[in-house]
Amino acid sequence: MTRITSVSLRRVLDSRGNPTVEADVLTESGGFGRGAAPSGASTGEYEAIELPASESIAKAREHAVPRLEGVYAGDQRAVDNALRAADGTDDFSAIGANSAVAISMAAAKAAADVLGAPLYQHLGGAFRGENFPIPLGNVVGGGEHAKEATHIQEFLAAPVGAPSVSEAVFANAAVHAAVADVLDERGVPAAKGDEGAWAPPISDADAFEVVDEAVGRVEDEVGFEIRFGLDMAAAELYDDDEEAYVYGDETKSADEQIEYVASLVDEYDLAYVEDPLDENDYEAFAELTDRVGDRTLICGDDLFVTNVERLQDGIDAGAANSILIKPNQIGTLSDAFDAVELAARNGYETVISHRSGETEDTTIAHLAVATDAGYIKTGTVGGERTAKLNELVRIADDAV
Ligand code: PGA
Ligand code: ZN
Repeated sequence: MTRITSVSLRRVLDSRGNPTVEADVLTESGGFGRGAAPSGASTGEYEAIELPASESIAKAREHAVPRLEGVYAGDQRAVDNALRAADGTDDFSAIGANSAVAISMAAAKAAADVLGAPLYQHLGGAFRGENFPIPLGNVVGGGEHAKEATHIQEFLAAPVGAPSVSEAVFANAAVHAAVADVLDERGVPAAKGDEGAWAPPISDADAFEVVDEAVGRVEDEVGFEIRFGLDMAAAELYDDDEEAYVYGDETKSADEQIEYVASLVDEYDLAYVEDPLDENDYEAFAELTDRVGDRTLICGDDLFVTNVERLQDGIDAGAANSILIKPNQIGTLSDAFDAVELAARNGYETVISHRSGETEDTTIAHLAVATDAGYIKTGTVGGERTAKLNELVRIADDAV
């Protein structure tokens, strides 16, 4: 039987050294699952609410844990409905999306444990697809993840021609290393940002040159196609008062931003551009998608926040052609699945994603395989990032 008998919550460290919520779920028959909440720095305005870890734990212990005892862990919707009912708000502001997502993931793992199946198999079912997601690897970045570096938040290696997930993972690591070489040759020192990407004090224009060069070198070595992409996190660049995107001393109007991004897509043959425009500007997203959506992915992260209502608005407007899926943006695995399903039904590509603050939790690797996602964005190097990448390699090797 998979009835939940206990849910315990504790504070653990995330990759930034901040406290986050870890949940353990036990079932009647001895099934065990553990999940930990990640945490964003460039969070979208419409995300579910993360409370301070101690407060979230106290609220969840009081309101959610009693409701969960006796619920079937294998019935993910029942678990997630109990979390929603315990919270009673639309955005998990009562118990915190951090406790909610940690419990939701832990319950799924406990159910998989009872079944003796890997998590991706439990979540994806018997008829899931056989594809593997292409990892998008953050190799250069700034924005909210590293001060004094690029304005654009992330430059992402995209090994679109990799014959296997393992070769894709190693290609991204090779691009990360090649970026270090190119920076070194240019005499540019570089620390690392929150996600392990290089955070050099260079202009965005120079960063494009560096990444283009690094990608080209690795492409020659490995012999398959590697492109690159961006997370512009433009809501962080956008100034509501100025009604403009601010790049240091320079500003761009929405029209200029569309023009700029479209020219980057063509000049660098970008495979992917996430949040190129402000999270409230569906219209501008639609215009850009209309212009370049036939040759690149325009992805909504802060725009959609893994929320089916916001995604439906985007579909209606023709805004973007792909969605970033971050379970903690919405609070439960069921909600994340609903967003994936709506996206797939409407021809939107799905990209399962980590957060800048992470733990060793590997749920998103399983989620990406379970949902047949085209891509997974989970960094390139650093233990909390390689935890997911190595799990993907194990899943592909049937060794989980
Ligand atoms: P965050 O950034 O986790 O800090 O929000 C990641 C992203 O914007 O994709
Ligand atoms: Zn983003």
